[in-house]
Amino acid sequence: MSNKSGSINLEDLIYPLFVRVGKGVREEISSMPGVYKMSPDVLLEEIDDLVDLGIKKVLLFGVPNEKDRDGSASFGKDNIVSRAVQLIKKNISEITVMTDVCLCAYTTHGHCGIIKEKEKEYSIDIDKTLKTLSRIAVSHAEAGADYVAPSAMAEGQVKAIREALDKRGFAETKIMGYSAKFESNAYGPFRDVADSAPRIGEGRPYQLDYKDAAKAIGRINQDINEKADIVMVKPALWYLDIVKEAKDRFDFPLAVYNVSGEYSFVKQGARSNFWKEKEMVFEVLHSLKRAGADLIITYHAKDVAKWLE
Ligand code: PBG
Ligand code: ZN
Repeated sequence: MSNKSGSINLEDLIYPLFVRVGKGVREEISSMPGVYKMSPDVLLEEIDDLVDLGIKKVLLFGVPNEKDRDGSASFGKDNIVSRAVQLIKKNISEITVMTDVCLCAYTTHGHCGIIKEKEKEYSIDIDKTLKTLSRIAVSHAEAGADYVAPSAMAEGQVKAIREALDKRGFAETKIMGYSAKFESNAYGPFRDVADSAPRIGEGRPYQLDYKDAAKAIGRINQDINEKADIVMVKPALWYLDIVKEAKDRFDFPLAVYNVSGEYSFVKQGARSNFWKEKEMVFEVLHSLKRAGADLIITYHAKDVAKWLE
């Protein structure tokens, strides 16, 4: 391997995985070549392979087969993420399992929280949202998740989840906050996966305005105060200034999310022979490290592990 791969360490990569209901299912996501939705049994085999490749951390997203107004398939014993986590933890010990905690894939309206509707308007009911997010987090912790990762951008979500976990005896379960999550165009391919685009209102006003760096830094600070174990900037590549500023200001574990749009961009360009995929991926990862990322959540992780073998 060329020295360009030098400081990229598999310990620092987090590989996102999508788990759906069913058996024997491995379904490619058309907007994200090389990324699949898998049923828990297939996911287990996949994680076995990942461990062999040296991947240490995964981030699980659930793709439920039922949605309702309040996202009730997201919590409780039988939610798809908890089922997958249980299966993984029963069979494989060498992997850190992180779970996404949000409602958008589980709600018919596609928003990340519980909403109140009034005529054609809607608003997020923050109290109900925090209660439901806490319930999801506790369910995942009961199943054995090492980290829960709230991505709903609900004010106070880290604090609410921390308190709920502690109260239920899960003081050991850690929290990775999606602290500075911008309202980005780069989530497009991901929303296809879980069919999770918002269906009422304009966009996701609870996510951050990409023009507002100060607010992003404030939200990172807030998550640290609320006792997150890891904070995050998302997306990654368009936001390297935020990453650098966060790293300079806070001496705290910092993750970046190299999101679906960033991934698809690299893949499509490689398919069109605009660049070499491997070379581009290492440039991307190094730029994120250079800016100050400790951890990189990336769909490229499996390829990187193979390239580094
Ligand atoms: C929503 C969520 C999003 C992603 C993960 N969880 C974005 C959104 O729809 O707002 C994006 C991940 C990606 O694009 O790879 N809670
Ligand atoms: Zn969401």
